[in-house]
This record gives sequence, structure tokens and C-alpha cells, in this order.
Amino acid sequence: MKYSLFFLLALAGIICCQTGCRNQAVNTSFNPFDYSIQKTISCTNGAVVSAHPLASKAGVMMLEQGGNAVDAAIATQLALAVVYPGAGNLGGGGFMVARLKDGKTIALDYREKAPSAASRDMYLDSAGNPVMRLSQHGHLSAGVPGTVAGLFASMKYASLPFPELIQPAIDLAEKGFTITAAEASALNHTQEAFRQYNTSKIIFIKHEGWKPGDTLVQTDLSETLKRMRDKGQKGFYEGETARLIVSEMKKANGIISPDDLKNYEAKERKPVEFTYKGHTIISMPLPSSGGIILQQCLKIIENREIGKMGFLSAPAVQLMTEAERRAYADRAEFMGDEDFVKVPVHTLTSDAYLTKRMSDYVAGKAGNSQFVKPGNINPESEETTHLSVADKWGNVVAVTTTLNGGYGSKTVVSGAGFLLNNEMDDFSAKPGVPNMYGALGTEANAIEPNKRMLSSMTPTIVLKDNDPYLVVGTPGGTTIPTSVFQTIVNIIDFGLSASDAVNKPKFHHQWMPDEIFIEKDFPAGVTDSLKEMGYTISSRGSIGRTELIKIEKDKTGEGYILEAVADKRGDDSAEGY
Ligand code: GLY
Repeated sequence: MKYSLFFLLALAGIICCQTGCRNQAVNTSFNPFDYSIQKTISCTNGAVVSAHPLASKAGVMMLEQGGNAVDAAIATQLALAVVYPGAGNLGGGGFMVARLKDGKTIALDYREKAPSAASRDMYLDSAGNPVMRLSQHGHLSAGVPGTVAGLFASMKYASLPFPELIQPAIDLAEKGFTITAAEASALNHTQEAFRQYNTSKIIFIKHEGWKPGDTLVQTDLSETLKRMRDKGQKGFYEGETARLIVSEMKKANGIISPDDLKNYEAKERKPVEFTYKGHTIISMPLPSSGGIILQQCLKIIENREIGKMGFLSAPAVQLMTEAERRAYADRAEFMGDEDFVKVPVHTLTSDAYLTKRMSDYVAGKAGNSQFVKPGNINPESEETTHLSVADKWGNVVAVTTTLNGGYGSKTVVSGAGFLLNNEMDDFSAKPGVPNMYGALGTEANAIEPNKRMLSSMTPTIVLKDNDPYLVVGTPGGTTIPTSVFQTIVNIIDFGLSASDAVNKPKFHHQWMPDEIFIEKDFPAGVTDSLKEMGYTISSRGSIGRTELIKIEKDKTGEGYILEAVADKRGDDSAEGY
């Protein structure tokens, strides 16, 4: 028998306690060698949507064992670190936004930070030009990882013991799991980079190439997870794992030190909170720009009757584009880690400021970013990952975490089995020079020791009548806030179903470059109308992988009906019971 006793026990437990699922019989198995992707589910007891079916199942298992949405989010993140190595992570960072059943709202920041030996010009050559290879690949591109500190900080709101939450991840790493076609393809595309940025043999390199259905066993990673299980946060930031990280750093000019690891702290922040057409929006504050961009965009369109313009109509796309243009210009100019720089958040989000920002908006005529040096979108994939969770008590959790690029720095910590991030590229290596997402920045986001690099991640919760209504977020680099913006407007203003709100074509404008990026299935007629208005349009691959849970009160008014949607654009899967 290929799968572990743990999974069989879990299977028995799950069979006994199924009740609420509507569009699949029951979630009767957790077999890591035989599983399928499920794009939508309607449930009453709890739901998890993430980038991988096995991770979503690990989360639902915790709900079934009596855990709450935070327990499920922790188990899902840990499982993602095993089954989705391109973005799920221990060696990266992220943010959690939650709203608990008692009304408490939480924004937990576990973004990576610059090592203490980092300096403003560390990626510039002798002529003062940025060497992007250094900020985007290999040891020097890694910030001090924050994810593990975030997991332990969120334990304050969990109800199950950590060893229980981490066990599915340990089993998946130790016994292995079957990889999907998408994972095989992504691993195959990264073989050369893995060879280039590792000095030791790593598990992700396979001479004959990966095939769908291959088994991935990660023994070193399972030992790292066991040290976390047995020693808590110190099992990662001190002791053997810390020693392995520092020893990896020394192999190729990396600068993360033992003190950087020991001193890393997750921080609770005050969430971004505002109203939009009677709904309350709760999102991530700095060091993510996501919540502020979302607030600016929604507030700009709030009084302009966008619903009447129609979903994906040229006037609606134009209005949203011009809101995005202005928000991203502000991101580039003003935003950075507020622990280090003063950011005029209050002004940036005030009605008076946003009204003035739109004073030069002309319906039917393209705006102009008036910037001499165009940004440059690098084809590097935008491998962040998002998970949304809701439980039967009304707790809701949105978590977005990242390694930055696909497989992060491409460097695996030898002996510890996890990839390090390349998040240092989210700083502005040189003010005015675009990073790999084409994002520009100024001094506000310049590198300083221990500073957190500006993010776009936008884990978001929407309340309706003071009850949870939407849990939403996505990967996608700079396209993250605009995808969340569109998903919310698709539901609130255009009345789309949860599934259409996620899966219909998306578009994106980020001030520079001055172009509207559209997905391949964006309607041609709308593209033509936008061109006539004066816009430059660029077609690109998929935009985001949005994970959404829509929540309605049931007939009794006591319970919830949860509609979970996993984005069509990847292996993303919705699970529930
Ligand atoms: N690395 C992507 C982000 O944090 O926005």
C-alpha cells in the first residue's frame, strides 16, 4: 500500500463526519497518489480554496477535526510548502488577513526583510547600473524568511495543537505525492536554473525530466518540518535549520546571518478597512501596497455607476484602468515599509485626494502616464500563492504568501530541502528602474537593513451587513490588487456569479508601462474600442489565480452556505464539507 497509515486513519475519520457538501458525494479520501482537482464546491461546514488539491484537503481535514479557519489556513500553508514548491513555502513570506466570529479583524505581516548586511546599492555595478541577476536569482536575492514566524504567530488564533496541523505536510514530504502535469512542466522548465543556482544535488533536478504522475519525496524537507513540530519557531530560526540556511548562504555570497534569523518577528498591523457601497472591505496594509491600491481603486469608482456601464464594456474597463493607473503611480512614488519611511496613507485614501486625482479623467479618451522611461515586464512567472478559508462559525481567513518568482531564488537550502525566496527584487534596487514586474519605486522602497520590501499581495475579506461575504486573494505580482479589485466589482457591481467573477477575462494597468494588459480571451470588440480611445493594448498569459469563497446566511439565519471557487487558471482546487 503506497500511502501512509496517517492518511488511512484520516480517511476513516472523514467518512464518519461528512454532512454538508452538495456537489460531490463526500470527500472520502486523502490519497496523495490519487486525487483530482475540483473547481467549485458548495458546503455548509467549512471550505478551503488553494493552489493545490492536497493542500486544500489538508486544511479541510483540520476543519473536520474540529479546528477553526485559522487551523485550516495553517495546515494548508504547510501542505502547500510541500506539494507546491514553486510558490508554497517555508523560505518566503506573506500576509494573513482574518476576521473572527467575534468581529475581531487581524492583519498579520510576515513579509521577508532585508538582511542586516544589506545596503541600498547592493545590486548596482561599479557604473551604478542594477545587476538584476543578483536581485532575482541565487543566494543574494533572498530576504530573511518570514513564513514560519507567521505560522507560529497565527497559532494565537488557532485551536488545534501545532503537531496536528503540521502532520499532513510531514506525511506528504516523507511519503511523497503524485505531481500534476503543471508541476512536472514547471519543474522541467526550471532545471537549468536549479543547476545554475545550487552547488549541491537537489531533489527537484531530474536528469530524465519530470512526468505527470511521478512521485516527489522530500526527505530533507520532512526533517525540517519535524524540527518545527518538535521545537516550534526555534526549530526553524535557530538550531539545525538556521545552521543549514547560514551554511547555504556562505556557498555563494549570501548574507543572511544567524542573528537575522533569530531576530525575525511577524508583526500584527492595523488592517486597511473601508466601506464600498455598503460593504466593509478588510485588506492588508503596508508593507503591502495591496490594500491601499484596492481602497483607491474602489473609492475612485464608487460614485460613478459602473454597474450600469456593464461587465467588460469599454467604458467600464476604461474607468477601472484609469483608477488603476493613478493608484500605481502613487504606489511607485510614495509606498514602502512604514516602519522605515513615512507614507501619506491617510491622504492617499481620502475622498478629497481621490476626487482630485480623477479631475483630469475624460470618458472615452485614454489617460497618459507621462513617464519617459517605460517599464519592462519580465516574462518571469509571478508565483505567489493565495488561500481562502471559511468555517461554520463565521471565522474567515485570507492568506497570500510568496517566494516571489517561480521557485523563488531557485536555491534550495542544502540539507533542509526548501527553496529560498528572491524577494529582494521587490525592493527598488535603483529608484526609477523597474523590477521584474515592471514596478517602479523611489526612495520609499529603497533597500535598508531589516526593512521589508514593498509587496502587492492583497488578501481581502468583504463583509455584508457585518457578516462575512467574500474571502478573496490571488498571486500575480503587480496584477494582484487589480485582480482582487475586478473580482469584487464583478460581484458587487456587475452581479456576476462567484465562478464567473473569478474566471472571466481580466485586465491590468499599472501606470508604467502605459499599457492595458489583457488575457487572451478578452473580448476583441472591447479591445478595438479601447484602442480607438487611444490605449495601447498588450495581450499576455493568464492574470492571477483567484481563490474565492462567497458566503451567504442560510435560511435559519444561524448557519452559512459557502460557495468556494478555485481559479480555472491552474491546479487550484476547492474543498469543503
Ligand atoms: N512578490 C510579490 C509581491 O509581494 O507582491
